[in-house]
Amino acid sequence: MQAVILVGGQGTRLRPITYDIPKALVPLRNRPFMGYMLDFLRSGGLEGAVLSLGYLPDPIQGYLAGCDLGGFSVDYAVEDHALGTAGGIKNAGRYLDGGPVVVVNGDVLSGMDLRKAIDRHLNSDALATITLTSVEDPTAYGLVEVDHDMLVHRFIEKPAYDEITTNLVNAGVYVLEPEVLDMIPAGREVSIEREIFPELQARGRLRAHVSSSYWRDIGTPRSYLAASQDVLSGVVGAGDGFDYLDVCDSTRLGDSVRLLPPVSVAAGCEVADEATIGGRTAIGRDCRVGSGAVVEGSVLLDGAEVEPGAVVRGSIIGPEARVGQNAIVRGLAVLGARAVVGEGNVLDQGIRVNPGVVLPPRSIRF
Ligand code: GDD
Ligand code: MG
Repeated sequence: MQAVILVGGQGTRLRPITYDIPKALVPLRNRPFMGYMLDFLRSGGLEGAVLSLGYLPDPIQGYLAGCDLGGFSVDYAVEDHALGTAGGIKNAGRYLDGGPVVVVNGDVLSGMDLRKAIDRHLNSDALATITLTSVEDPTAYGLVEVDHDMLVHRFIEKPAYDEITTNLVNAGVYVLEPEVLDMIPAGREVSIEREIFPELQARGRLRAHVSSSYWRDIGTPRSYLAASQDVLSGVVGAGDGFDYLDVCDSTRLGDSVRLLPPVSVAAGCEVADEATIGGRTAIGRDCRVGSGAVVEGSVLLDGAEVEPGAVVRGSIIGPEARVGQNAIVRGLAVLGARAVVGEGNVLDQGIRVNPGVVLPPRSIRF
């Protein structure tokens, strides 16, 4: 069986990071997200995948070209304009073998048993089976009402607060019969959630499979950071040889550096004297952390720099961005690639700094 991985979206909610890195490649514990996605599909016994691409396709193809996929086949269907979640599946059709297919949203990190969902689908009369997960707030997802037989009675994409009747939502992992691809109109943007699922539900051919395993959509700064911390903690995605203290040998550590696991530090980094790398932090390649600086519960992407005395807590620092001396970046702040936070600034409350923006010293204080 094959999969279609939907990775054509712009990752708007994860800007400014996704201006430079497609959502499918943001790293978790210094490994691009796509690596975990392929592990997930292989664990379900799938033989290959078609990547449905649109926005920033080249880095994704480049990453996969450098991976040892061990016999797992990969094809690429690239859109020249956005076709939506159903259009993206239809566009992948020419690479499919005409049997049932697994479709995954390319931004969900899941520990679910994919094989169980597939078996459930194959043993039913459904044209499509959607997997469900339970969340606190369904408004950011597709709400799914089911009966005792797991037949879907209603699918409401991004429900309003007064439409919430259940906490079960679409987990973004489906099994589809080939007939579903024929239902998708060609040549225009089509949403599987807004057009195809409601039609299948009306025909009584849409079923669900609930999973209580780990699940997270990594598409916002809050959820990406949480996913990063979960992978560092080994809650999900831990492969053989997982270690809470994963520091590349090529990293240079100064005197009295405190490394508090779980931590991952990639190749070529420099951590100066008396710096603290606090728990649940991932530091990408060639980063620099100055003396006495503190980095905690954060992600530093490749080439980022935290100058002496600066503090980074619960935040995301983009590639080659720089946090100046004694500056404080906290509270889910996100710096785009090459952004510079001048000395003594204090950033907080989810502030986002666009790529290349330079904040002069002491210009922002929360
Ligand atoms: N090829 C292609 N073309 N892919 C697309 C397009 C497109 O035009 N638009 C979005 N995608 C991809 C995105 O890259 C992402 O991997 C996936 O489709 C889902 O898009 P999101 O933008 O992340 O959707 P969402 O998170 O708001 O909602 C979806 O996922 C939820 C679960 O995480 C819906 O399927 C919800 O019903 C669901 O609950
Ligand atoms: Mg999403």
